[in-house]
Amino acid sequence: MLEVRRQIRRRGSLGKSILSPLAVEAGSPLHMVSETAESGFTRDNGILSCDGVSLEGIADAVGTPVYVYSIAAIESQYRRLDAALGGIPHRLHYSVKASSNLAILNRLRMCGAGVDIVSGGEMYRAQAAGFSGSDIVFSGVGKTEREMKEALTLGVLMINVESEDELDVLDRVAGEVGKKAPVALRVNPEVMVDTPHPYTQTGVKGMKFGIPFDETLVVAGRALRMNNIELVGLDMHVGSQISQFEPYEIGLGRLLQLKIDIERAGARSLRYLDIGGGLAVSYDSEHPIDVMEFGRVVTRLVAPTGLKVLVEPGRFLVGNAGILLTRVLYRKRSGGKEFIIVDAGMNDLIRPSHYNAYHRIEGVRSTAGRVTADIVGPICESGDFLGLERVVDDVPPGELIAVLSAGAYGFVMASNYNSRPRIPEVIVDNGRYGVVTERETYSDLVRKERLAPEWRKVQ
Ligand SMILES: Cc1ncc(COP(=O)(O)O)c(C=O)c1O
Repeated sequence: MLEVRRQIRRRGSLGKSILSPLAVEAGSPLHMVSETAESGFTRDNGILSCDGVSLEGIADAVGTPVYVYSIAAIESQYRRLDAALGGIPHRLHYSVKASSNLAILNRLRMCGAGVDIVSGGEMYRAQAAGFSGSDIVFSGVGKTEREMKEALTLGVLMINVESEDELDVLDRVAGEVGKKAPVALRVNPEVMVDTPHPYTQTGVKGMKFGIPFDETLVVAGRALRMNNIELVGLDMHVGSQISQFEPYEIGLGRLLQLKIDIERAGARSLRYLDIGGGLAVSYDSEHPIDVMEFGRVVTRLVAPTGLKVLVEPGRFLVGNAGILLTRVLYRKRSGGKEFIIVDAGMNDLIRPSHYNAYHRIEGVRSTAGRVTADIVGPICESGDFLGLERVVDDVPPGELIAVLSAGAYGFVMASNYNSRPRIPEVIVDNGRYGVVTERETYSDLVRKERLAPEWRKVQ
């Protein structure tokens, strides 16, 4: 085995032991592939740190709340998935929506990733991070004409089309721009998946996403007859936080049958099979997806076709690699319950209240005693919590708490609700840390606002 690993025993928020694997060789070369997921967050003498960098030191210097990400963990996840698909032509197109900071995009670009985007704003970000048009897959159920024009002008690799209406508009817009639009049809594979929350099911019959499976052949036939469309691929996204490979296996089987039917109907230029994102990570004790098995399943099905596989992982690459670091402001008891009031709120991390999502919560310094408490923020909403009725470290005011596995759909979903400036993002790499998003100021909050408007009359 190329990699030396040591196991660090640490206590999870439910009071059980969690074994956290950690790659230890200094300057571990990029090509080494870890067999297991690494978060980058480990305990030494009971104190949580990020790849050896003190979280207390970061909090003192940058303030709290703050998001902290391990670059080593992100790159390690990239390498694991990339290696699992090593037997077939493929590319990982990082799903920018999961965590869209320029520094993270840049590091994934340097690993070899392309991107999957869902808006003109994400296209702008991707370019700012150094991606070129051919690195970009443009997904999304409601693209505007402006976004289509921008994508065609930039020369994106392909546009994943989700409806017949969208195809019509794209054909017209491409004609206006004087380009042939490279299109993959996003098919709703109509696979039942078991995700932790209905909001993360996307490939189930009746969802707004994708072209209904039984209509795809007809839509493909129309696409083949259009002057400004080149049908280059098929696409699916079965959902998010998928821990079994069966939904991919079923969905892929359907896509491959469609490919045969569409080619019978005259298609000559199908070259991409975009199998979406959705690969699960472990938030608590649940099993993450078996990446190697996933790779074997995809390879077995796709290898005979010669198609290039595109994968759109978001959470898998960044989910476990980030934490939300927050300081305890107050403790109180009310109605027989214990509350830990921290300086991060639902505006900073909305997943617990929006998706009922579970994040492990631990003291940065583990405490001897444990307490059952609600960990809540300062927002004026009863739904403002990070965890309810949790057995956690008995952390006093002034001490730090880490909300783990907050790297995906954390900062990107933050808002200014309650006029709270958005918090900074920090990356850790090679024994150093760097601020990659600065904390907003109060003046940022009102920058786009007017005390009184410039009044105008509608003509
Ligand atoms: C089309 C598409 N691709 C990729 C993703 C990324 O999903 P995940 O972060 O679960 O990998 C999503 C998430 O919503 C999506 O809608």
